[in-house]
Amino acid sequence: MAAFLRNLVGTRQQFPRFSPEVVLPRSDASDRPVAVPDPGAPDPAAPGSGTRPEPVPDPPATPAHGPVEVAEAIAFLEQFHAEVFVDLPEPDRAARIAAVRAEIDETGTYRHTTAELTFGARVAWRNAARCIGRLYWQSLRVRDRRQVSSPAEVAAECVEHLREATRGGRIRSTLTVFAPDAPDRAGPRIHNEQLIRYAGYRHPNGSVTGDPKYVPFTDRATALGWYPPDGPGRFDVLPLMISERPGAEPELFELPQDAVLEVELRHPEYSWFAELGLRWHALPAISNMPLEIGGVRYPAAPFNGWYLATEVGARNLADTDRYDLLPEIADRLWLNTSSERTLWRDRALVELMRAVQWSFDEAGVQMSDHHTESRRFLEHLAREQDAGRRCPAEWSWIVPPMSGGLTPVFHRYYDEPDPDQRPAFLDPTG
Ligand code: ARG
Repeated sequence: MAAFLRNLVGTRQQFPRFSPEVVLPRSDASDRPVAVPDPGAPDPAAPGSGTRPEPVPDPPATPAHGPVEVAEAIAFLEQFHAEVFVDLPEPDRAARIAAVRAEIDETGTYRHTTAELTFGARVAWRNAARCIGRLYWQSLRVRDRRQVSSPAEVAAECVEHLREATRGGRIRSTLTVFAPDAPDRAGPRIHNEQLIRYAGYRHPNGSVTGDPKYVPFTDRATALGWYPPDGPGRFDVLPLMISERPGAEPELFELPQDAVLEVELRHPEYSWFAELGLRWHALPAISNMPLEIGGVRYPAAPFNGWYLATEVGARNLADTDRYDLLPEIADRLWLNTSSERTLWRDRALVELMRAVQWSFDEAGVQMSDHHTESRRFLEHLAREQDAGRRCPAEWSWIVPPMSGGLTPVFHRYYDEPDPDQRPAFLDPTG
């Protein structure tokens, strides 16, 4: 097992506890809040257990996994033969299908070839109705780690995924697939929504340090013995939380710093912007959506693309239930915030977006802008149409969260998504 991964399970006593009341923001906003550890005190107010705690959710429930539906396996193999192995002679196609049928009869499941697995993962991306970045679906790199299911090895492979996908900012769309669910044995679970996310600590007065969206996850990690390595701050990378199978006690693994590329945010004109002490991680890597291919479910199959600037600037840092930074930025810009009609929110948002885009560019970290990516999505639609395929899309996810009408994706409708379409990335809760 890779030694760089610190497994935190069972070590909770070694971690200093802190009380949120003594997490004091300094006057210099670029500094992290200071935590005063109080190891001796009983701990009525552990991180996140303020006056308005959010319920700590259970790990996602997983239905017992029955045998693979033969019809789903065959439909997938036929699609694979029709799109990829187009030159494969008919007897060979029939032989592969017969072999899969026999394997399912005997074991309740079957093993995809590497080519099938890669194709299945790529088509799952192509079928992702909420994704605007699908033009590149064929470039997805698939890391086949189906032999891996122990939490420590899953964590090590997630770290390796981050390194291979990040490449100092030359991001490569990558998916790592771990052991599938099989009738005799369920696959591992990654509880994190993304491999890299920031902790949120709720204080007794209800305010939050960090990302409010991850207060419940942070509470769970804390309950399992996690403590932020440098004391609680606004951008603490959460540990990986992994179970060997559903229902098994999750284990925690700190991500090594050098596997997590982050960009410090500055503004091309306003030097005060850097003083806000903002940053964001370079890689969005969704880790809790099961991947289903030809009736086989891979519950742990983290995948990443690269960011579209609006995801960070117009949502993560701007949403009122996330970092909610527009009021502070508007103040710094001396905007008149006494009325909505001054459009101070819109003006602050544009400057925040400029900072995000510019900082990623300066750091050499790949990031798209919503104008370019919208045009590319329409190119993707045209290609799909030429290939004789439907391209389902969800309008409200495709249209960017700012300046929608300035982008061509706003001015049209799309094929309705079909929830039964496969291969697909599935809703983690459903
Ligand atoms: N919106 C999510 C986030 O802000 C990331 C979703 C996936 N995005 C992507 N560009 N692949 O972290």
